[in-house]
Amino acid sequence: MTIIGARPQFIKSAPVSKQLKKHFEEILVHTGQHYDKNMSKFFFDELQLKKPDYNLNVGSGSHAEQTANIMIKLEKVIKKNFPDLIIVYGDTNSTLAGSLVGAKLNIPIAHIEAGLRSYNKCMPEELNRICTDHYSKILFCPGKVAVNNLKKEGITKNVFLVGDVMKDAVLQNMERINSKTIRKRCNLKTDEEYYFFTLHRQENTDNLERLSKIFNMLRLAKLKIIFPIHPRTRKIITNSSIKVPENIFITEPVSYIESLSLQKNARIVITDSGGVQKEACFLGVPCITLRDETEWIETIKRGYNTIVGTDFKKFKKALEKYSEKDKYFNSNKLYGNGKAAEKIVRILRKKIL
Ligand code: UD1
Ligand code: UDP
Repeated sequence: MTIIGARPQFIKSAPVSKQLKKHFEEILVHTGQHYDKNMSKFFFDELQLKKPDYNLNVGSGSHAEQTANIMIKLEKVIKKNFPDLIIVYGDTNSTLAGSLVGAKLNIPIAHIEAGLRSYNKCMPEELNRICTDHYSKILFCPGKVAVNNLKKEGITKNVFLVGDVMKDAVLQNMERINSKTIRKRCNLKTDEEYYFFTLHRQENTDNLERLSKIFNMLRLAKLKIIFPIHPRTRKIITNSSIKVPENIFITEPVSYIESLSLQKNARIVITDSGGVQKEACFLGVPCITLRDETEWIETIKRGYNTIVGTDFKKFKKALEKYSEKDKYFNSNKLYGNGKAAEKIVRILRKKIL
């Protein structure tokens, strides 16, 4: 049983489900954490994902409400099916609820994207991933840093270094990248240079002082900034007096292929997203991260990604560093070779069948 519910999880599950269906029967549960068409259905269509067998339709709420609602509904679904294994991805409330309910019903949990740590427990995702890793029977890590993080917490059994399934997804969709239509929709002239920007993390959006600092910082950018806005951020900006700088072009959330296309052709990617930090690097485009730390340490060590938080000076310096034309990267060896999903399913066959 695969449990997913948020935008990045639809993307992560695509390459894994493709491999799973060769050897297993997959029951797909959508928790309904994300529900707008452009945050959910469009990804199922574009990535040709299986129609969910169950949609729990939990919708939004506080952390406790959302997690609890998923747990209550999910328990019934798991009890009805008693799967041999539950697969969860990443670090959302859907991940936590899925792993906790499953583990309490003694179903083995496989965690894909295990071992990531920001070492910042104010982040809801950090709490979700710590718990999930400790409830999981099989842990699939995208890189060595993640394996070592687990080791520090005493988790060494059934830990597998497989690479990142988001890299699989990027490589499998490279040929679909086509920026013509999306450029037009973003009012970009042919060959006009731009920055690609996303922002949705609680620490940035729910603190208005920090949010206005970020927008003020973005005024330093000399190019147009394309900003597909997350519904969370849209709501907060709409209900505040924050002024979005004129160099920022806001659009509704874009599709996965459009997101890859916009990133691939951007001069620099600026983000607080976990997935986008990696994708930029996979696509050879430098990334500036608007957080005070990252779980994706390997991207920093290689110089592909720079953490600036909300520090004006660091942001300016990073913009200058990455504005040189030749600052594009070769990320061939970053987080595996694009075969993570195959490795995961091979291991699952040995463990389960
Ligand atoms: C969640 C994850 C985060 C992940 C992100 C991916 C948790 C704790 N956080 O954050 O780790 O990076 O998804 O995008 O699970 N909303 C809509 N329509 C939707 C979905 C959300 O309007 O389809 C709005 C609602 O006002 C909601 C808010 O966005 O309250 C936040 O959504 P939620 O799923 O709670 O958290 P994300 O910020 O999306
Ligand atoms: N993404 C997308 N459309 C958008 C913004 C992002 O398809 O408008 C994709 C992006 O390419 C990446 C994933 O969503 O694959 C990242 O998800 P998100 O930033 O919501 O969550 P995080 O990775 O931070 O958990």
